[in-house]
Amino acid sequence: MTMKSSVVRSFVLFLLLSWSSSEAYKPVIIVHGLFEGAKEMRTITEFIQEAHPGTEVTVLDLFDGGASLEPLWYQVKYFRLAVESIMNRTEDGAHLLCYSQGGVICRALLSVMPKHNIHSFIALSSPLAGQYGGTEYLKKIFPDTLKKEVYKLCYIKLGQELSICQYWNDPHHRHQYLKHSNFLALINGEKEHTFTKVWRENFLRIKKLVLIGGPDDGVITPWQSSLFGFFSSNETVVEMRNQQFYMNDAFGLKTLDLRGDVSVCKQPGVHHTNFSRSVSVFNNCIRDWLT
Ligand SMILES: *[C@@H]1O[C@H](CO)[C@@H](O)[C@H](O)[C@H]1NC(C)=O
Ligand SMILES: *[C@@H]1O[C@H](CO)[C@@H](O)[C@H](O)[C@H]1NC(C)=O
Ligand SMILES: *[C@@H]1O[C@H](CO)[C@@H](O)[C@H](O)[C@H]1NC(C)=O
Repeated sequence: MTMKSSVVRSFVLFLLLSWSSSEAYKPVIIVHGLFEGAKEMRTITEFIQEAHPGTEVTVLDLFDGGASLEPLWYQVKYFRLAVESIMNRTEDGAHLLCYSQGGVICRALLSVMPKHNIHSFIALSSPLAGQYGGTEYLKKIFPDTLKKEVYKLCYIKLGQELSICQYWNDPHHRHQYLKHSNFLALINGEKEHTFTKVWRENFLRIKKLVLIGGPDDGVITPWQSSLFGFFSSNETVVEMRNQQFYMNDAFGLKTLDLRGDVSVCKQPGVHHTNFSRSVSVFNNCIRDWLT
């Protein structure tokens, strides 16, 4: 064998190897949280690229900072275009990793996108069942308002123009929540609408739902909301499997669970802002679902 042919051979081998390794990992699309933007998702992007070299990671740089308060359906429209344009050029589909408010945006995306090809949907410290708590975020938006009073601002037409109001879930004003919520109550199937069935079918196209949260979150309230648990009317927390929307399989959660496709990853000792920056959260809860 000549020197030249062995060089050619190893070059071909190299091409095959790099081709197969880049084929091995599906693209990952990341959606950021409230008051944040693409740059806050840099650390987790690095974790992914270190663990799975060659992965195409896209952090959607839309509605950053204050713009993240814009109405959620308006945001969903633009996030959808961005997600679809990535999805449309991948035959094998992609993964969706969504942090905090990004998690409810992604829940909506997966409901409204027909024939989507998202495999793992990872919701990282997201208020999936709603938010009811006086967090640092809340103080920025409603400086003089107690959490008990927020419903008066949120459960009116104008209030529903503010993202945080669209997943504000006051357990003491259930009736008004159901009447006025034009976002969370719809995507969680808490009230029937024309698209309930279609949205459920679309959501069920995912292969895996990964729920990540923990008791030291400090922002998501109750923290179990990141795992689809929520307050009952006396503020005790009812876990996912005892929630009405689970029991009546309103948006497909029970079906996914019975299919064995819900992974719950509880991480103590992690503050909300650190969920996207913690290498142990990444290794324990995320890495294995991004292949
Ligand atoms: C993605 O493909 C679908 C189906 O072909 C098409 O309806 C949609 O407009 C495409 N979206 C983008 C952003 O390219
Ligand atoms: C609070 O509500 C839950 C669920 O509705 C119920 O099981 C529990 O007994 C209530 N606890 C108190 C102290 O009233
Ligand atoms: C986040 O994690 C870093 C590094 O582990 C730590 O120093 C910091 O105190 C944490 N932040 C919060 C708010 O817990």
